[in-house]
Amino acid sequence: MGDGMTNRIGHAGLAGRRMSAEDAAGLIQPGMTVGMSGFTGAGYPKLVPPALAKRIAAAHERGDEFGVRVLTGASTAPELDGELARAGGVAFRMPYQSDPDMRKCINGGESEYMDVHLSHVAPQVYAGNYGKMDMAVIEVTAILPDGGMVPSTAVGTNEAWLDVADKVIIEVNANQPMDLEGMHDIYFTSRPPPRDPIPLRHTGDRIGEPYLRCDLSKVVAVVECDLPDRMSSFTPADETSKRIAGHLIDFLHHEVKMGRLPENLLPIQSGVGNIANAVLAGLKEGGFSNLTAFTEVLQDGLLELVGGGTVTVASATALSLSPEGVKEFLDNIMLYRDKIILRPQAVSNHPELIRRLGCIAMNGLVEADIYGNVNSTHVAGSSVINGIGGSGDFTRNAYLSCFVTPSTAKNGDISCIVPMVSHVDHTEHDVSVVVTDQGLADLRGLSPKQRARAVISNCAHPSYRPMLEDYFDRACRTSKGKHTPHLLAEATSWHQRFLDTGSMKS
Ligand code: COA
Repeated sequence: MGDGMTNRIGHAGLAGRRMSAEDAAGLIQPGMTVGMSGFTGAGYPKLVPPALAKRIAAAHERGDEFGVRVLTGASTAPELDGELARAGGVAFRMPYQSDPDMRKCINGGESEYMDVHLSHVAPQVYAGNYGKMDMAVIEVTAILPDGGMVPSTAVGTNEAWLDVADKVIIEVNANQPMDLEGMHDIYFTSRPPPRDPIPLRHTGDRIGEPYLRCDLSKVVAVVECDLPDRMSSFTPADETSKRIAGHLIDFLHHEVKMGRLPENLLPIQSGVGNIANAVLAGLKEGGFSNLTAFTEVLQDGLLELVGGGTVTVASATALSLSPEGVKEFLDNIMLYRDKIILRPQAVSNHPELIRRLGCIAMNGLVEADIYGNVNSTHVAGSSVINGIGGSGDFTRNAYLSCFVTPSTAKNGDISCIVPMVSHVDHTEHDVSVVVTDQGLADLRGLSPKQRARAVISNCAHPSYRPMLEDYFDRACRTSKGKHTPHLLAEATSWHQRFLDTGSMKS
């Protein structure tokens, strides 16, 4: 799809700083903190990280130590997290990641990992929590004659990395369409407090400018690239995800009927993953119109809603599309660029905006417990899958915070509803609704014991429901009416049983 490098580097001074990815990677030294672009498989640098990985592998072969601290917007792709992880080159990683090799390094103890709310990433770097940033490596679509940069398919933390890094490497990717120009809205929020209110009142407002900028004297290399974002396809919606979507859509219609939501709902946020994507696909058939989205990633399901006119405007920080989604986006880019706004994640995920706009949050989970606490990140308490991403930003602050999940995982050997979650990302205080293929538990206004009854009877799979009822009954009897009954010795025994026998079933 690229149009080659013609006119992609319009600034004469920066054109003079062109070099190979290998030479640019040579500017990254062991121990450096490197801020890279990239958000959920979009807009990550594609040439410098693999060249850096080769340099690291060669150093290791010589017996030299070489690791870097990698900070991004969110997850990247095999060329970045995968290559660097396989080279054993990531000493520290922050925030959300989803690469299998990176995950192996983290859970194998080779890489330190800090999982951070995505709205906090840039502010924490500004606050100095990660030391100084030595280098930024940022993919852009083009550099204009005045040095302004047309961002790529994700904004993420790029505006902040360009600002705080001592030195900057720019990858100009001719594979990203020039028609992206004008879709972005770059607004700075990230500097330390006191902060001004963000002047955004509606999902479609534009409050910044469409370009990234930095002190051009910091740019030490410009690398030319012509490679597509590499994202995989979503799992097509199956019966389970269709049932989950059906329960949620019925609930939203009910809320409209009761006068608790307007007919066009409130700005929707939809999380990462197959289930959240399938739920959005279900909304297409849901009979709603004039919807808006104030969300973090724009996956295929949301693109379809925008393309079909169900969603009139969508604000996000990244396009996280499958190859089929990318084709649809490119074939109709003039339609989409008017309806989609890509912002820094410090804005797309900003708690104050989410609270003020009154979003309806819909995120996936790993497990929920009978009281409505949610684990989004860890298997059996210890092994991280991806990270909390923006789920905390939205869940804590949304008007309505919903979680969607199949009632079981791993062919039924795991119940996604457990007595007590093995890791907590979202507390019972923040979770309004839990939806599985079995049904929906509306937890608003319920006490812990009332919530437990709703979650067990509406959400648990029939093969685990009697076990949960038995647990809860005995916990109630033993605790003699205490506020949140638990049998502590048994509360996480389901996870131990899964680790010991391969199944949570007794
Ligand atoms: N125990 C162990 N593994 C579990 C599990 C559980 N309770 N529940 C799900 N899984 C596994 C699935 O088996 C699957 O594994 P596989 O890839 O080996 O098949 C994997 O987790 C993904 O599950 P799936 O059911 O396909 O759901 P998903 O693609 O919707 O992802 C999350 C679910 C929780 C992993 C995903 O939503 C996530 O990373 N969330 C955290 C970040 C977030 O919510 N961001 C929102 C941004 S605004």
